Amino acid sequence: MSTNVTWKGRWTFILAATGSAVGLGNIWKFPYITGEYGGGAFVLVYLACILLIGIPVMIAEIMVGRAGRSDPVHSMSKMGKAAGRSANWGAVGAIGILAGLMIMMFYSVVAGWALDYVAQSISGNYHQATTATIEQNFSLLLSDPSEQLIWHSMFCLITASIVAGGVTNGIGKSVDILMPILFGCLLLLLGYSWLNGDFSAGLHFMFDTDFSKLNSEAIIVAMGHAFFTLSLGMGAIMAYGAYFPGKTSIGKTVLTIAILDTVIALVAGMAMFPLVFANGLTPSQGPGLMFVTLPIAFSTMNGGQFFGTIFFALVSIAALSSSISLIEPGVAWLEKYGVKRPLSTFSLTGVAWLGGIACIYYGEVFDALDYITANIMLPLGGLLIAVFVGRILSRSTVAQEVGMGTGALFKSWWFVLRYLAPIGIILIFLNSLKLI
Ligand code: PFF
Repeated sequence: MSTNVTWKGRWTFILAATGSAVGLGNIWKFPYITGEYGGGAFVLVYLACILLIGIPVMIAEIMVGRAGRSDPVHSMSKMGKAAGRSANWGAVGAIGILAGLMIMMFYSVVAGWALDYVAQSISGNYHQATTATIEQNFSLLLSDPSEQLIWHSMFCLITASIVAGGVTNGIGKSVDILMPILFGCLLLLLGYSWLNGDFSAGLHFMFDTDFSKLNSEAIIVAMGHAFFTLSLGMGAIMAYGAYFPGKTSIGKTVLTIAILDTVIALVAGMAMFPLVFANGLTPSQGPGLMFVTLPIAFSTMNGGQFFGTIFFALVSIAALSSSISLIEPGVAWLEKYGVKRPLSTFSLTGVAWLGGIACIYYGEVFDALDYITANIMLPLGGLLIAVFVGRILSRSTVAQEVGMGTGALFKSWWFVLRYLAPIGIILIFLNSLKLI
């Protein structure tokens, strides 16, 4: 992808960035961590982090990408230098590239599970099965490394083939059609849950705020997930920002993406928890939540085999439009050194593929990568990006590049970016280290 190509317009950018944001984080991870960390109070902290930290940092990332018109490393070092400060700020982009690869390691394994469930749906494996059999199906998959390896490899291969061809060709268009269908499927599941699940127990679980369940770990996981779900803190959105058309409003675009992303996560949770309570499952069952509750719905609904197939296929595609953005910043960076796209794509994806194999065989590797990236690397990246834009670049440059005018809107964003967001991230870090 060369830097003189720009996304065809604001809408294409919205679709690509939404494609990056909406993925396994919304449909698989959000419901299961909400279950693990006790529901309502966790959801509230997550929503607050989206609003007060995620949205301002996303505006900052897009601005840097658009102004730098390059990969995250070069965009940040170029702007640092232009501001008369250090070019070493590019290191933030480099940490982000590493974080992207580390996320891809476990992300591709879970996407592989989704692909496996496409096959299971087609073959009618869980059709009209009992809850116990459906639970056992997931355990069987987890205890079968070679089965996981096949799907994980296939997912890595598809991701690499798309990135190697250049991300501006085609993803925008497919996301355009597929995302609304995915949303339609989630609404269908929500309707099913409403009719057949314990809807009120599900809603109480998700929205009753019981702060006694909120420990410092829950807070840091909620913040980490705000970064993860919006693809922030590692340069993915910054890399896409390099193709954002000049002069279009960043603020409105970011709001659209954040709202879409949040609504999808909330609907996914509202579809799953009523089924959890109606079927005697535990909300805190962990990563299998989606792979157990939804097949229960598909196993009994009319046309369930068909809808199950479509649903897991769409989840896999949503994961694909996210995984592309995990690899893209590294590829764009290597491109600057003359490394050809196919070579860099297959090398970087190859590294992630190997890490994925470690995740398949050692659950601790999976958990550690998930924890370190989402809860430490992304918030740290976000903090550094906020400091970079809010304190290293000059106010006039930022005001000019971000294109929000100089009125109340700009002033409140600037305030949040300089004070609220960084202080919030630092406090949450200190709290999780038991220092405050
Ligand atoms: N936002 C993606 C999801 O919610 O599934 C995951 C992700 C993609 C995280 C890209 C970070 C990233 F840079």
